[in-house]
Amino acid sequence: MPTFDTLIRGGTVATASDTFACDIGICDGRIVALGQDLGAADTVIDATGKLVLPGGIDSHVHLSQPSGEGIVMADNFASGTRSAAIGGNTTVLPFCLQEKGQSLREALKRYHALAEGECYVDVSFHLIIADPSEQVLGQELPALVADGYTSFKVFMTYEGLALSDREMLEVMDTARETGALVMVHAENYDAIRFLTDRLERAGKTAPHFHGRSRPIPVEREATHRAISLAELVDVPVMIVHVSNREALEEIRRAQQKGLKVYGETCPQYLVLTERDLEGLNMEGAKYVCSPPPRDKASQEACWEGLQQGVFSVFSSDHCPFRYDDPQGKLAPKGRTSFRWVPNGIPGVATRLPILFSEGVVKGRIDLNRFVALTATNHARTYGLYPRKGTIAVGSDADIVLWDPERTVTITHDLLQDGSDYTPYQGLEVTGWPVLTMVRGRVVAQEGELVGEKGYGTYLTREKSPLARSSGPSASAFTA
Ligand code: URP
Ligand code: ZN
Ligand code: ZN
Repeated sequence: MPTFDTLIRGGTVATASDTFACDIGICDGRIVALGQDLGAADTVIDATGKLVLPGGIDSHVHLSQPSGEGIVMADNFASGTRSAAIGGNTTVLPFCLQEKGQSLREALKRYHALAEGECYVDVSFHLIIADPSEQVLGQELPALVADGYTSFKVFMTYEGLALSDREMLEVMDTARETGALVMVHAENYDAIRFLTDRLERAGKTAPHFHGRSRPIPVEREATHRAISLAELVDVPVMIVHVSNREALEEIRRAQQKGLKVYGETCPQYLVLTERDLEGLNMEGAKYVCSPPPRDKASQEACWEGLQQGVFSVFSSDHCPFRYDDPQGKLAPKGRTSFRWVPNGIPGVATRLPILFSEGVVKGRIDLNRFVALTATNHARTYGLYPRKGTIAVGSDADIVLWDPERTVTITHDLLQDGSDYTPYQGLEVTGWPVLTMVRGRVVAQEGELVGEKGYGTYLTREKSPLARSSGPSASAFTA
């Protein structure tokens, strides 16, 4: 009689804390045994020469998100989670966008309908709060946090999304009272509008002026303000997609003061620069994202943030638009000014190889920090741990077999997303996922999708242990 459904044998397991030779016994989608000579199984996977890692968790992706009139995001739940699986991810956390005047429940109903039956890996949603009315903050949000929607993002920029400082405070206060975690997109909207108007008046409308419209002080100021607002309300915050040293130093200073401020950075801030936006004609549009990629010194700062723990999560901010498409980067209005080029770039499949190659292989971070930054810390931060994000008895068998020796030149055809390009075309990486397993089932192997659409399930999350619920505000700053 076989003991296990599946046995992964002969590999080197790495978690956020340890690396060890060990076999893994799996039953009913869960890890049930770790050890040597575990016995028989229906299926044996030979992991000799491979690293056996917790499946990647990407806690910052955008799928099927409404993106403005005439613009269509390149990935829906099927193509986005397919590409995630190919890239070694087993869970992704996309954003459910509340539009102005819309209730959060309506937004969620629509978004769940889009995901239902479509996913190849597991998913769970963050909310985006764009209309923090009294009804939303007083009634809907507390109920939704109790239902497992335990994190939400607020924007300090973008038409239709940017919140005033007062609104930010109200949202943060609700987060504090309910024990939810607030994610902040920190860029100063007025400063961007002012700079954009000036650039356009000077005829500077090509894609690379996008970077000039959102220079580092725009991000630094908003980061400082977001942290100050969170301090006033006494609530933990995650500053997402940090691109440079000055914003990093704001976060570090807050952490040193003992504030619960966390940071995230992304592959584009490690391997792209503003020079990439200078492509001929409209090619630079392929790299338009916000905050924009900066310079080599900013890349070094982001590495420092990852090495020193100022940044605890490394996410893709996968926000794909097709390039050669009137509903994508080359939307008719986008050709007239960078202002109208949809912001965001694809990256869910390339996140792990880029960090492994540039980080672990080049000696900037060790393997255990790689696991923490790509899986474990995401699960811990967003209320999925220990079900997800680690290799331990009782955890879901969400596992990636990783070939640390394989060298691959990234080309778009490898990635199986819905876009028509990758900003990392031609980048050579060492280290590549060769098998992705979600809850005991292989969903991708050797670059082929073998999973079933609809197998990926929706995950209801616990509250983040980083957030805390302590009722009415107890901050020294509030009455
Ligand atoms: O340019 C970006 N990052 N677009 C995605 C939306 C966001 O702000 O995360
Ligand atoms: Zn953002
Ligand atoms: Zn994003």
